[in-house]
Amino acid sequence: MHEDIERVLITRSMIQRRIAQLATVIANRYKDGLVVVPIMSGSIIFVADLIRQLPMKLRVDLISVFSYNVTKNHKPMLHKDIGTQLKDKDVLIVDDILDTGDTLKFVKERLSLCCPASLGTCVLLNKTEQFSDFSGFFVEKDDFVVGYGLDYDGYYRNLPYIAVLKKELQDAVH
Ligand code: IMP
Ligand code: MG
Repeated sequence: MHEDIERVLITRSMIQRRIAQLATVIANRYKDGLVVVPIMSGSIIFVADLIRQLPMKLRVDLISVFSYNVTKNHKPMLHKDIGTQLKDKDVLIVDDILDTGDTLKFVKERLSLCCPASLGTCVLLNKTEQFSDFSGFFVEKDDFVVGYGLDYDGYYRNLPYIAVLKKELQDAVH
């Protein structure tokens, strides 16, 4: 285990099992194709594993939003927009974690201007039980989690599990 980690919350195999379940549900819902819009950079690992379990014809188009930083500036800001036409397409936004919901709300509002046929959301982690069409795991709001794409100050995305960062490091965030 990494020295900055307090405890592992969700192991690699738990993540893989849950993604397989999510993929089955998503595949049933979107049989005729899909545009997957991952929110960068936190969803990179999740979306890579998820789409490889989806059998339908799909496109991936990234969007990048700044949504969280150590100065508590939570207001989401567009960093890189999508390039695909979404009109009349089924669209699934994918993010790493849902906390206040501001990031997903911002991206949903932006993409809805493109008149998609439907606009769904899928998050690996849900901190607040706010609504997402698909959620992998519910986690405690007080724990700052890293790994499997989630970062602290840009680090720890490469950890193969989801873990709670040590309290003394978390304090810089809350
Ligand atoms: P929201 O806009 O408050 O829902 O926050 C969502 C964004 O904040 C996510 O896309 C993450 O990048 C980031 N975030 C929220 N909580 C955590 C956490 O515990 N660890 C790492 N990133 C987090
Ligand atoms: Mg993010």
